Amino acid sequence: MKLIAPSVLSADFGHLADDLEMINRSEADWLHVDVMDGTFVPNISFGFPLMEPMRKYCTKPLDVHLMIVHPEKYVERFCDAGAWSVGFHLEAVDDPLPILDLIRAKGVRTCLTINPDIAVERLVSYLDKVDMVLLMSVFAGFGGQKFIPETMSKIRFIRQEIERRGLQTLIEIDGGVNAENAAELFRAGADVLVAGSAVFGSPDPIRTIHTMKN
Ligand code: DX5
Ligand code: ZN
Repeated sequence: MKLIAPSVLSADFGHLADDLEMINRSEADWLHVDVMDGTFVPNISFGFPLMEPMRKYCTKPLDVHLMIVHPEKYVERFCDAGAWSVGFHLEAVDDPLPILDLIRAKGVRTCLTINPDIAVERLVSYLDKVDMVLLMSVFAGFGGQKFIPETMSKIRFIRQEIERRGLQTLIEIDGGVNAENAAELFRAGADVLVAGSAVFGSPDPIRTIHTMKN
């Protein structure tokens, strides 16, 4: 699959409806929603109050990426707030399985995420228990960082594992993705590319999304 999920983190929050309208008109597949708590990551973004306008103005599915401690406390509220998928970090929890159950019980797609310093092997035993895995290609916390090249071999490793076991699990890549590296990421086996600054910082975001997708 070749999906593009612009990250609303880099949108203009003073003109959020306009930016979402642009996303609606574009070939973007999902809207990536970055929630940061200032504890799991050294930055705070936004929470529930923005889910409502995003659901109202955005016609694309909301792909929620929780960068928070204790995701078990909040995943159901994000499901109720209209998330299409909810992901949280493996390294933020002791046991992800009961939390994945909470999300699945709401009929929402599940995603497990790891930061670049977490061994990709730790995801392997969960590949058949989630709809998607998200490999961070920068350290979670901020948009506009540089892509970490070591991500490429991690994508190939997970792709091989998914193929070998005949799974349908999607691979999402988040951080430093742009029109220059998108094709290589898809070739390595990525299914979904998140892009914040590359899309919203572009003079022609619709065209950038088109270029990334094709
Ligand atoms: C980083 C977030 C990313 C971020 C990507 O913690 O998870 O989704 O918005 O931004 P860019 O594409 O600018 O690296
Ligand atoms: Zn993200």
